[in-house]
Amino acid sequence: MKVGTTHYRSIWRNGDEVRIIDQRWLPHEFRVVTLRSTQDFATAIADMWVRGAPLIGATAAYGMAASMADDASDANLNASYDTLHATRPTAVNLRWALDAMRALLAPLPQATRAEAALVKAAEICDEDVETNRMIGVHGLDLIRQIAAAKSAAKSAGEPVRLLTHCNAGWLATVDWGTATSPMYHAHEAGIPIHVFADETRPRNQGALLTAWELGQHGVPHDLIVDNAGGHLMQHGEVDMVIVGTDRTTAQGDVCNKIGTYLKALAARDNGVPFYVALPSPTIDWTLRDGLAEIPIEDRDGREVTHVQGKDASGATADVQISPDTTSARNPAFDVTPARLVTGLITERGVCEPSAAGLAALFPEKAGA
Ligand code: MRU
Repeated sequence: MKVGTTHYRSIWRNGDEVRIIDQRWLPHEFRVVTLRSTQDFATAIADMWVRGAPLIGATAAYGMAASMADDASDANLNASYDTLHATRPTAVNLRWALDAMRALLAPLPQATRAEAALVKAAEICDEDVETNRMIGVHGLDLIRQIAAAKSAAKSAGEPVRLLTHCNAGWLATVDWGTATSPMYHAHEAGIPIHVFADETRPRNQGALLTAWELGQHGVPHDLIVDNAGGHLMQHGEVDMVIVGTDRTTAQGDVCNKIGTYLKALAARDNGVPFYVALPSPTIDWTLRDGLAEIPIEDRDGREVTHVQGKDASGATADVQISPDTTSARNPAFDVTPARLVTGLITERGVCEPSAAGLAALFPEKAGA
């Protein structure tokens, strides 16, 4: 998607180098960095220079390629898998990408592994772009239906008002985003939309990233505090919620950024459709009960006690917001049970959040 007038992906190859947008500095500073060693890639994921489930997977794939260029032995293949896998626990795209890389590389002669790994990592990135584009095409149909219903009713002329949580935008994927892809498609199709972006404490991905990327693309939006969503829904100001996910179980339970569950509860109480947009590598076919089985990342309490922003001089700065002695809990994700989800928007179409719904779209996976 666009940064100014230039099209960017969130990760790309430049000759022999792999580059990323270092998202820790957005929106106030746009920094591109080159990742070289396996450890560079692991640090970029663990410390959230890159984040978002699909981008974590794509970055890990290039991390495996870097490790093969360094040492293509079986021992290093397995050690790099373990190093990259240990970076973040919740997004299953990480394991999916690493499994795909190892399955391809392990049977190959060592001399061919480095080049094959680069080709496969590029393929994973290209597939992610196409998958997210298709999510946008299917999600666009849902937005179109709401727009048509509104134009037939007394709200004619009003934009379709969409609420999203965290950043499930192009910055969280290789391009397009998941939750944002239907929004970008609707905007490009000339359907008037207005997006409410939850700030998403503690790391404020909504305020820092979603607001920035929507702005770069010219999509009308407002930033709201996390607690405003329920109020807006009670007052009929939200037509649809679309969020992303880090891991969705085979029966349709959805794990996403902390606070997603509360939005789903508010949506259900107010009759607002609550959709989850996901590429199929985000489905964990080995799990059923999301609440019991999905590992939830516990992050440093400093993310809760401190906030990052731009100071008066224009520099990015951290400030402490709580007393010196206050401790903090920081669970980074929560699980929304399938019963609170209206539908799952995938690259193959929209389905009900259930084992049957997912199996109908992905019979080859559900039967495996
Ligand atoms: O901790 P983050 O920023 O990696 O969390 C990101 C999210 O929760 C996204 O909603 C999710 O990864 C879906 S991204 C298309």
